[in-house]
Amino acid sequence: MTTNRIVSGKLSADDTSLDSSLRPRCLVDFVGQARIKENLNIAIAAAKGRGEALDHILLYGPPGLGKTTLAHIIASEMGVNIKITSGPAVERTGDLAAILTNLRSQDVLFIDEVHRLNRTVDEMLYPAMEDFALDIIIGKGPGAKNLRINLPNFTLIGATTRFALLSPPLRDRFGAVYRLDFYDQTSIEAILKRSARILGVKAEDKGLEEIARRARGTPRVANRLLKRVRDYAQVMADGTATRPVAVEALGKLEVDPIGLDEIDHKVLHTIIDKFNGGPVGLDTIAASISEEADTIMDIYEPYLLQLGFLDRTPRGRLATPLAYKHLGLPYNKGKPPQPTLL
Ligand SMILES: Nc1ncnc2c1ncn2[C@@H]1O[C@H](COP(=O)(O)OP(=O)(O)OP(=O)(O)O)[C@@H](O)[C@H]1O
Ligand SMILES: [Mg+2]
Repeated sequence: MTTNRIVSGKLSADDTSLDSSLRPRCLVDFVGQARIKENLNIAIAAAKGRGEALDHILLYGPPGLGKTTLAHIIASEMGVNIKITSGPAVERTGDLAAILTNLRSQDVLFIDEVHRLNRTVDEMLYPAMEDFALDIIIGKGPGAKNLRINLPNFTLIGATTRFALLSPPLRDRFGAVYRLDFYDQTSIEAILKRSARILGVKAEDKGLEEIARRARGTPRVANRLLKRVRDYAQVMADGTATRPVAVEALGKLEVDPIGLDEIDHKVLHTIIDKFNGGPVGLDTIAASISEEADTIMDIYEPYLLQLGFLDRTPRGRLATPLAYKHLGLPYNKGKPPQPTLL
């Protein structure tokens, strides 16, 4: 199962306890994403100064980069309550009405996977976000009445891995839209240092550096790899996460030196070996490696794009020369065949 893969940014059952103990609680502990933090600091200070609710915020980016964490931090920095739900959990407009009418002034409503709200619920959110009001129709036919219920001023924080799937009217109603990027090596190292301290893992800087290199710029993956290396160090070495221990442990888990796993390799090899480097459609790639197209798009593709190993073209995905190089394959696409020397 893909969701259980060690390098997947997606939350797995094993992460749940880990996530809550390692989750930073305030903005200063939130590593990286400097631009977002700066903007949030200003927005929060301004809203607090005016005694108003914060503008609605949309957070988007690949799984495991800290969207849920940020939503909690925002609520706690504002000193308000946070109610948490998700797109698929809000099935009917009545569910949403119940949640909204129970909010207190300035509260945060966090809707994870906000792109998965169904249309009627989505439409009910428009006036709620814009006018802090709910429009409810009572009865049917000519006798139907329109009832408007006022809501407290609240802040909606939506999180999504798929910005493009959000309905444009919903997208437009967010006052601020922040895209979370993959973290750089230094930030992941800082996250790992903090996590090692919290978990009481003995680790050398070189060990953490090695883990960071393989963490795909994703804090959740970094924390998960740290846990595996800790186990390995404890059982196979003297308990310290050194560089050789990290290399060995992660090698055994088939996480390569830049964090690619078996599926990434399969994706790249399929494009290169079966389709001569592409372009090839995502569905075709998915079918040939028996994975879901959504999984590839959410988890594997973003990092391969970030590395510059894939190009997304209107005709499909292309493997770049960098991808060939990483796999140790000669890149001769588009070049005339080499003349054979006699
Ligand atoms: N900036 C950060 N600094 C330190 N730790 C972080 C940071 N961002 C995320 N983490 C860690 O990574 C874990 C995953 O983050 P989080 O659950 O917020 O990701 P997410 O973007 O909501 O993922 P998903 O899309 O799967 O919901 C957190 O529990 C936390 O331990
Ligand atoms: Mg989340």
